[in-house]
Amino acid sequence: MAPFAHVIGWGMAVPERVMTNDDLAKIVDTNDEWIVSRSGIHSRHIAAENESTAILATRAAAQALAMTTVEPADLDLIIVSTSSPEHIFPATACLVQDALGAARAGAFDLSAACTGFIFAVNMAAQAIRTGSIRTALVIGAETLSRLVNWEDRSTCVLFGDGAGAFVMQASDRPGGVLSCVMRSDGSGASLLSIPAGGSRMPTTAETVQRKLHTIQMNGREVFRFATRVMASATKEAAVKAGLRLEDIELVVPHQANLRIIETAARALKLPMDRFVVNIANYGNTSTASIPIAICEATADGRIRPGDHLIMVGFGAGLTWGALALQWVSPERRPTPARRGRRRFLTFLAHVRSFFRRFWWRIEGLLWGAEPRGRT
Ligand code: COA
Repeated sequence: MAPFAHVIGWGMAVPERVMTNDDLAKIVDTNDEWIVSRSGIHSRHIAAENESTAILATRAAAQALAMTTVEPADLDLIIVSTSSPEHIFPATACLVQDALGAARAGAFDLSAACTGFIFAVNMAAQAIRTGSIRTALVIGAETLSRLVNWEDRSTCVLFGDGAGAFVMQASDRPGGVLSCVMRSDGSGASLLSIPAGGSRMPTTAETVQRKLHTIQMNGREVFRFATRVMASATKEAAVKAGLRLEDIELVVPHQANLRIIETAARALKLPMDRFVVNIANYGNTSTASIPIAICEATADGRIRPGDHLIMVGFGAGLTWGALALQWVSPERRPTPARRGRRRFLTFLAHVRSFFRRFWWRIEGLLWGAEPRGRT
């Protein structure tokens, strides 16, 4: 029988710096009342200069791994879902792989905007269920503060930075990922995009001056689209999993706007206490919002082993999707000795990475082609 794909570890990381609505009102023409009433957001975390997507992703991943007996070298696959990668290439996932010392893992980024974490968990689950891999690390990580136009009050108030991670593993115990709905509609691509910086509109002085490297959004249309798809995707994922909506203990929606979540709850005829909502403290952290919400809900005891959850999201692309899963408790917790060993192995991974970087330089000198750039 095909193995089940379980979430056995979870972790999150957000920058220390908190920006409140009042802080924002000092930068753009806005106010706390407008932001709270239109979006439900009170504050968001903003990356410091020395923080980036890979750094937040690695922190969340280390926390998720620390819950388990999985060593970085046991990982077969690392997927980082992000719309604010460190570079166009290499993939942010490769930088995380190096930082963790996951020497055996294939690593790649997945680009599906705010729906990305759902797609990534499904991809990892399918690879586990076919038996092609045993253990995967799935991360949603963003530093959208780097891509926001801080002069555009209609977008800059909405987004925040953060990362969340799942360790997923094959198991004979029933549960884990039960079903997934993945959808997209590229005809709505222009409703939410960063137009410049890719092959379609390479960087020029003009694109920089016109701020085309920042998030452009038709808020009203995105709002309409989101309220249409949230309820339908949730229902579809439940049916595919053989569940009724009454069987779902908690829905974990993408945290883009409290009003969108409330509209979805009304359409599903579910009370708001069946939804995990933490947008007030984080804003829209895009693909990181669902795993961050799950980390908080498990810490609060709202998610318990055996619970049926539906994660549902939407975003640029346009993309949307929902994933049903049955939460399980991790099989084994790491002992203090194992945690010590993990710290030592992480230190060794950094040493190994240092020497490998050194070796690339030596090789470059020997063969006459020195590598350029910092990765
Ligand atoms: N502070 C004060 N006023 C603001 C403002 C701000 N931060 N941003 C916009 N406004 C103004 C507008 O200029 C407009 O003024 P006008 O009527 O004089 O032109 C007015 O507020 C109303 O704007 P409107 O766009 O109708 O507001 P809204 O109720 O639709 O809410 C959003 C705007 C962006 C909060 C809402 O459309 C939304 O959440 N959309 C979905 C966005 C989203 O989730 N994106 C991420 C997807 S993953």
